[in-house]
Amino acid sequence: MTAEYQVHGTVAVITLNNPPVNGLGLATRTAAVKGIQQALADDAVKAIVITGAGKAFSGGADIKEFNSPKALTEPSLHTLIATAESSTKPVVAAIHTVCMGGGLELSLGCHYRVAMPGAQIALPEVKLGLLPGAGGTQRLPRVLGLEMALNMIVSGTPVLSDKLAGTALFDQVFAADADLVSSAVAFAEKIADARPLPKVRDRKVDYPNHEAFLQFSRNTVKAMSGPFPAPLECVETVAASVTMKFEDGMKFERERFLHLIQTTESKALRHAFFAERVASKVPDVPADTPTRAIKQAAVIGAGTMGGGIAMNFLNAGIPVVMLETRQEALDKGLATIRKNYENTMKKGKLTQEKFDQRMALVSGTLAYEDIGQADIVVEAVFEDMGVKETVFRKLDEVMKPGAILASNTSTLDLNQIAGFTKRPQDVIGTHFFSPANVMKLLEIVRGAQTGKDVLATALALSKKLKKTGVVSGVCDGFIGNRMIEQYSRQAGFLLEEGALPEQVDKAVEKFGFAMGPFRMGDLAGNDIGWAIRKRRYVEKPEISYSKTADLLCEMGRFGQKTGAGWYDYKAGDRKAYPNEQVNAMIVQHSADIGVARRKISDQEIVERLVYSMVNEAAHILEEGIALRASDIDMVYLTGYGFPLFRGGPMFYADTVGLPNVLAAINKYAQGHQGGAWKPAPLLVKLAEEGKGFNS
Ligand code: NAI
Repeated sequence: MTAEYQVHGTVAVITLNNPPVNGLGLATRTAAVKGIQQALADDAVKAIVITGAGKAFSGGADIKEFNSPKALTEPSLHTLIATAESSTKPVVAAIHTVCMGGGLELSLGCHYRVAMPGAQIALPEVKLGLLPGAGGTQRLPRVLGLEMALNMIVSGTPVLSDKLAGTALFDQVFAADADLVSSAVAFAEKIADARPLPKVRDRKVDYPNHEAFLQFSRNTVKAMSGPFPAPLECVETVAASVTMKFEDGMKFERERFLHLIQTTESKALRHAFFAERVASKVPDVPADTPTRAIKQAAVIGAGTMGGGIAMNFLNAGIPVVMLETRQEALDKGLATIRKNYENTMKKGKLTQEKFDQRMALVSGTLAYEDIGQADIVVEAVFEDMGVKETVFRKLDEVMKPGAILASNTSTLDLNQIAGFTKRPQDVIGTHFFSPANVMKLLEIVRGAQTGKDVLATALALSKKLKKTGVVSGVCDGFIGNRMIEQYSRQAGFLLEEGALPEQVDKAVEKFGFAMGPFRMGDLAGNDIGWAIRKRRYVEKPEISYSKTADLLCEMGRFGQKTGAGWYDYKAGDRKAYPNEQVNAMIVQHSADIGVARRKISDQEIVERLVYSMVNEAAHILEEGIALRASDIDMVYLTGYGFPLFRGGPMFYADTVGLPNVLAAINKYAQGHQGGAWKPAPLLVKLAEEGKGFNS
């Protein structure tokens, strides 16, 4: 059942019941319309109350119906709202906990609205690149006024019902200890005979001088919404609530909604929304897989990553013991954590009380005996197999049975690490991204023997730490770094052929990346890539790299930390200034390897950087390292600054069309360092079949 029907005296109560948030799917809409019709047909019923079971009035459209024909099947949401609004008996929406999107639009079609305090009221459609398409843009301004409605619709941010008490949105907000249904029924009995029935559509939006306000809003919203069209469309449709008659405003809203739903930006946002949800699902690890309790954590290594990782646990209220080899390193690590929290406090984003709570949860030690009782230990020591071996052998000795042994390694073989213990089922990779207390991505590396319950625990933990957990199999670089390696190689080859760092960075930044590869290298430290390449020159001599990055490091230009890298930097200024010597070195290198420099277009730069990643990703998918294309998109959206409005590399490739991607790759395979391009069989297959990665 998706809506229950009961009669309390002279009042019919329709209770939406479609867990978890009473999404207005087809079955729920059908049952609600039937309920209203049944009430209208019953002479004993004088008024109707609509409410929601469980944890919501209604969260809005049923996300399971998104992109499916069911969303449009009658009775549509419009029909349900029209049925309520045109009812000849008064309809009262009884709101609690969550009333969002289509749920709020339904309530606005009711004649009266009563609510519990603390209910979250929102029209969040803009977050999916849309606008409220069932009358929200026309009715909300009629009850809240132009300014407040516009703010809510453009931001999508929830406002608490008690903050809206006193507006025409609510006829009554009950006391916190009231019983919603009986209070709503009492309210309905009181207004049962009042006529005419009030309709939001009949109200006027009163805002003198609205043109000036609207123009101000257009300017502000345009400046803030970047490449996304939806916020400005929200302003225009809300404007129609003042400038047009209700019916015309509704038509305009429909038209703009249908336009937005077709935009790539909205498709990308909706893709990311679903990708995030599906990422935590692993086919052979069912949702009811038992998880292990994580009440106490330990972190080995209090360096850059260890400190950030510890903060994640502290933020979630989980106590952490940090282990180091030297007191000095431990003190430094703990001081950094304190400093980070102090900075957040200075910005007003953390209270003294919360600060005290968090700092009270962290302690340090030099002795393994002190961490044995932790439920999870995350290792973040130097990226060196020998060091990892020492640590994991020790962990195997001291950790209690059932403790999860996690490694933050970014390149090393997790299966080998697991092999240092007698409990490989308890070993897993938790690959955080720097700064670990900020970046959303957590690559969860599943070793050959990692237990299903350990994987399920890591996925649950990622949610608790407010991270986006994405599962990766074991390979060099896992999903994210394995792809970025191809991107970096192409960036180097582009320098050899005629581009300079500034052009490459600008082209990629114009595409939407937060930072181009060379500015990124300067930020992360060029010496890190240098060390990795030196190892690769020995282990995998068949892989070609441009030598320009090595020559840069030989000049001592490691990046921002040395004040100089691909660019120059000035103290107290993050701006990158091109350096003549570096550019001369690049030009000279082309001459040394006999490459005649040519003018390279921005389009070529973007294609080579992005498609090289996409091609590698196709291998990653084919090998089963990633479970699905959308997981790869999540990795790039949450860990690498890939532009959200493009939906991630795989979604972007689908948008471009895989035959086009393949044709470009084949073209570049004929050019300089063409050997770096070998079209992945999966890409070729999908292109031939006319399919996409995400289809
Ligand atoms: P770091 O050099 O800043 O910190 C390593 C810390 O481990 C140092 O404080 C050191 O004293 C301590 N340490 C070394 N050997 C130890 C041992 N046997 N027992 C206890 N403590 C020991 O290094 P960082 O950058 O924090 O990297 C740590 C790990 O995280 C590496 O595996 C690295 O590949 C990985 N990683 C690093 C990222 C980054 O952006 N820095 C990103 C993702 C992963």
